[in-house]
Amino acid sequence: MSEIEVIKNEIEQHIADVQDTKVLDDIRVAALGKKGQITELLKTLGTMPLEERIEFGKKINAIKAEIEASIVAKKQELEVKMLNERLKKEVIDVTLPCRPETQGRIHPVSKVYEEIVAIFAEMGFEIAEGPDIEDQFHNFNALNMPPNHPARQMQDTFYINDDTSHDFDMDCAYVVRTHTSGVQIRTMEKKHPPIRIIAPGRTYRSDYDATHTPMFHQVEGLVIDKKTTMADLRGCLYDFLKSFFEVDTLPVRYRPSYFPFTEPSAEMDIGCLKTKDELKIGAGTDWLEVLGCGMVHPNVLKAGGIDPNEYQGFAFGMGIDRLAMLKYGIPDLRTFFESDIRWIKNYGFTPLDFSSMTSGLSNNGGLAR
Ligand code: DAH
Repeated sequence: MSEIEVIKNEIEQHIADVQDTKVLDDIRVAALGKKGQITELLKTLGTMPLEERIEFGKKINAIKAEIEASIVAKKQELEVKMLNERLKKEVIDVTLPCRPETQGRIHPVSKVYEEIVAIFAEMGFEIAEGPDIEDQFHNFNALNMPPNHPARQMQDTFYINDDTSHDFDMDCAYVVRTHTSGVQIRTMEKKHPPIRIIAPGRTYRSDYDATHTPMFHQVEGLVIDKKTTMADLRGCLYDFLKSFFEVDTLPVRYRPSYFPFTEPSAEMDIGCLKTKDELKIGAGTDWLEVLGCGMVHPNVLKAGGIDPNEYQGFAFGMGIDRLAMLKYGIPDLRTFFESDIRWIKNYGFTPLDFSSMTSGLSNNGGLAR
């Protein structure tokens, strides 16, 4: 056997033995790299007499091609082997049940928040946001509640003393927002109609009992267009509440009310049955108040930079926590914020209970447990 055949056999043997792509690459470099064995042999061609050069050149190029082919084949073989090993190791038994030891729970407020967003998103609403620390212009004045307006006393406001102003009823003083209605103004400042938004978020009032906590959650809604009417408001809120409570029929009624930022204003009630130990929504002879609403007051449109002669709209506001209490039968609001692990285990939702209009909102049939 000639010297180059010995070299070739040696290299082929190494290729056959190798079990790892990294080592295979080292072998490739040692044979075919810039200073590889075969490359070095090719370099000697130039020093050979013509006859010999032709003969040797053919041979060495054939060997080179064979080695290259062996390396490619081996590389493929190793890759397939590695992939099969990985697939074997990482196999997942999809028939196994969910891990029963999962500890985390989704808070009912987060759950209801997601449900509300899912329903309104389906109706084409966008989500809008505003700051928790709000100036009095957005929280009051622009909502048709100028300083000393009696409606300001309806909300037990937490004022933020900026130390320079002791007149808390002035525009310059900040408050922690008493409602999400200020986001109506912030939205009008940024967007031209048509507007169709909801603004869920935290709100604050100095109040504390079974149905009031100093921090609570609201969702605001605002729709503005050229021909938006009270009929649109009614259709929208009826569809929302029916989807939210996951019932086929839902008696509703609107009672005339007063809010400075809407005219006319109404409060909306839903039909229910209250018994000693159950609250059934969607049937019965009792009524439950669920939200405030109305047609946006022309002064509010003006404050938001929108011409009330050209546009009109409706707005609504409701308590997210209150909706959670009603839907999931939770009697005391204060327990929502006590961080009691036993409470969240009882009232919380597993992280896999994803809310969507197509796969189901609450995944528990909807009504109070
Ligand atoms: N901001 C009101 C509150 O906190 C709720 C409300 C009522 C919002 C009527 C509205 C509305 O947008 O039209 O009690």
